[in-house]
Amino acid sequence: MQISALVVGATGIAGRGVSQELVDRGADVLGLSRKAEGLTKGVTHVAADLLDAEDVNKAVLGLTPTHVYFTTWSRQANEEENIRVNAGMVRTLLDALSRAGRVQHVALVTGLKHYLGPFDAYVKSGTLPLTPVREEQPRLDIPNFYYSQEDEVYEAAKRDGFTWSIHRPHTIIGKAIGNAMNMGSTLAAYASICKETGRRFKFPGSAAQWNGLSDMTDTRILAKQLVWASTNDLAKNGAYNITNGDIFRWSWMWPRIAKWFGVASEGFAGQIAPLEAEMASDAEIWRAMASKYGLVEADLWRVASPWHTDLDLSRPIEVMTDMAASRRLGFSAFQSTEDAFHDLFTTLRQDKVIP
Ligand SMILES: NC(=O)c1ccc[n+]([C@@H]2O[C@H](COP(=O)([O-])OP(=O)(O)OC[C@H]3O[C@@H](n4cnc5c(N)ncnc54)[C@H](OP(=O)(O)O)[C@@H]3O)[C@@H](O)[C@H]2O)c1
Repeated sequence: MQISALVVGATGIAGRGVSQELVDRGADVLGLSRKAEGLTKGVTHVAADLLDAEDVNKAVLGLTPTHVYFTTWSRQANEEENIRVNAGMVRTLLDALSRAGRVQHVALVTGLKHYLGPFDAYVKSGTLPLTPVREEQPRLDIPNFYYSQEDEVYEAAKRDGFTWSIHRPHTIIGKAIGNAMNMGSTLAAYASICKETGRRFKFPGSAAQWNGLSDMTDTRILAKQLVWASTNDLAKNGAYNITNGDIFRWSWMWPRIAKWFGVASEGFAGQIAPLEAEMASDAEIWRAMASKYGLVEADLWRVASPWHTDLDLSRPIEVMTDMAASRRLGFSAFQSTEDAFHDLFTTLRQDKVIP
């Protein structure tokens, strides 16, 4: 690939996926984050704090990326702060790159909260979205940092003349340590603790999630769509949902995950039973497991993010995603979700993240 790429949030779950895809395709890849830990081999690190405009200006001075993949966010206490901080990060970066004037395309990763509403509203809001969610659905009438990030991209695109694409994954499956939201490694850590202690692997979510249809997004398929949209004229200036291409029910998937780990599973038991409470006392057990099995991360909370798994699995509706928009334009990649979990668990075991 003859592009010079800048992956922003390169050590996160989405950023690592697109970094690997770009490296595999032979692109020149720069990866921006504060710390280099977890950076994909073949990526050149750009250290910068997106909350500090001066730092970002200095860090990108002299860099001339043609394609920017924006895959980061910073979790704040409420949506008003999420908007200020996360839209600000997009603006700071695009303003800094505007000076070099070389950017041709910006791809922004947001997510299904575009349709469901932000975390502090989506479970509680009275209006539930139509599913499967489709790109054509209008924005909800509530503030959402994804909308503000999109608006920053649209404004900068008008100013600087680049094309853009927006990508909306469902829950992402992939490897990242110390990141904010990772259902795959959360379930892997929880199942490993169940195995160690003899506890049952209990579904923490709602009846709607247990019985209803769902889908997910492997970081590798998200990466393929990002590269496809950013390098294919037909796809430019569009917003695209992105999921693996299959659907499943948690009542089907949960026992399969339990089986992979060799633990006894327990399904929906009449009410939501949050994983955050279930795992609340597990940090010391994990520390002991890390020492016993030589694991690379002794801090459970850098591997597991149960608060996020709870929010996903306790939704009061089934949530799945229409993929027709990118399919119509020729994006045909597919990934089995069960294989996505198994591939991740295998990688986590090989890399000594789990026993
Ligand atoms: N994870 C999911 O399941 C999921 C599902 C659907 C949608 N999404 C969306 O996908 C987008 C990307 O999220 P993600 O989950 O991939 O993120 P993530 O895994 O938490 O990674 C965040 C990345 O950004 C970097 N970063 C964080 N704060 C920074 C700062 N102030 N300055 C510079 N770099 C910073 C982090 O590295 P450092 O900490 O070293 O800086 C890391 O590389 C978000 O909009 C998210 O809502 C995620």
